Amino acid sequence: MRLGVNIDHVATVRQARRADVPDPLEAALLAEKAGANGITVHLREDRRHIQERDVERLRQRIATKLNLEMAVTPAMVAYAEKLRPDDACFVPEKREELTTEGGLDVIAHRARVKDAVARLQGRGIHASLFIDPDPTQIEAARETGARGIEIHTGSYCNAGGVAREKELRAIVDAASFAQRLGLEVHGGHGLDYENVCPIARISEIVELNIGHSIIARAVIVGIEQAVREMKELLAKARG
Ligand code: PXP
Repeated sequence: MRLGVNIDHVATVRQARRADVPDPLEAALLAEKAGANGITVHLREDRRHIQERDVERLRQRIATKLNLEMAVTPAMVAYAEKLRPDDACFVPEKREELTTEGGLDVIAHRARVKDAVARLQGRGIHASLFIDPDPTQIEAARETGARGIEIHTGSYCNAGGVAREKELRAIVDAASFAQRLGLEVHGGHGLDYENVCPIARISEIVELNIGHSIIARAVIVGIEQAVREMKELLAKARG
C-alpha cells in the first residue's frame, strides 16, 4: 500500500503569518525520509495554502512522486501541462468550502473531464478522478479514459456505528467494481489513526492520500522537542 502525504496544512500554518516557515518542501523531504511514497498538494484557485512556488520547488526536489490535486479548469489544466506532476487528481472545488466536499460529478461534467484527462495523460501524467463510491460515477470515470480513481472516504470517516459499516461496504464494493473495470484505485479524505485500518485492508486500494491527521499528529508529537530547543537557547543566552 502506497502512502501519499498531503502537506497542504504545512502551508496553511505558514500562510497564517505570510512567513517563510514552516516550509512545505522541508516537510515533504522529511515525510519521504519517514517512508512516504508520494507527496500530495492541492493548488486551490484561492491559493489559501499551497502556492505555485511550492509546487514548483516540490517538482524539482522530491524523490518520490508528486500528486497534484486540481480543479477541472482551463487555467489548472494548462498549469499542470506545463508543470508535469507525476499524477494529477481532479477534484471539485468551491471557494467557500473548508476542504473538498463530496466527489467530482463526472456524469455532469463528462466532456470537460474527458478533455482534461486526455490533455494531461497525453503528457504522461497519470490522471485520477476523486469520486464518491458510486458505481455510476465509476463507470463514467472509466469512460473518460482516466487511469484511476480516488474513492472519497469522507462519508465513511464522518459516520459512526452502523452507518459507518454501510459506508465501508460501499467503499469495498466500489473498489472491487473499479478494479474490474481496469481502473487503479486510490482512497482518501478524513482518514486518521483511528479509522484507517478497515480501509487499508481493502486489497484493491493501492494508494491512500492522507493529510490533516498526519500534520495534526506532527504538531503534537513535535511540540516537546520544539519547546526544549527554545528553552535550551534561552538558558544558553543567559550563560
Ligand atoms: N484526497 C483528496 C482528493 C483531497 O482533496 C484531500 C484533502 O485535500 C485528501 C485526499 C486528504 O484529506 P485529509 O486532509 O482529510 O487527510
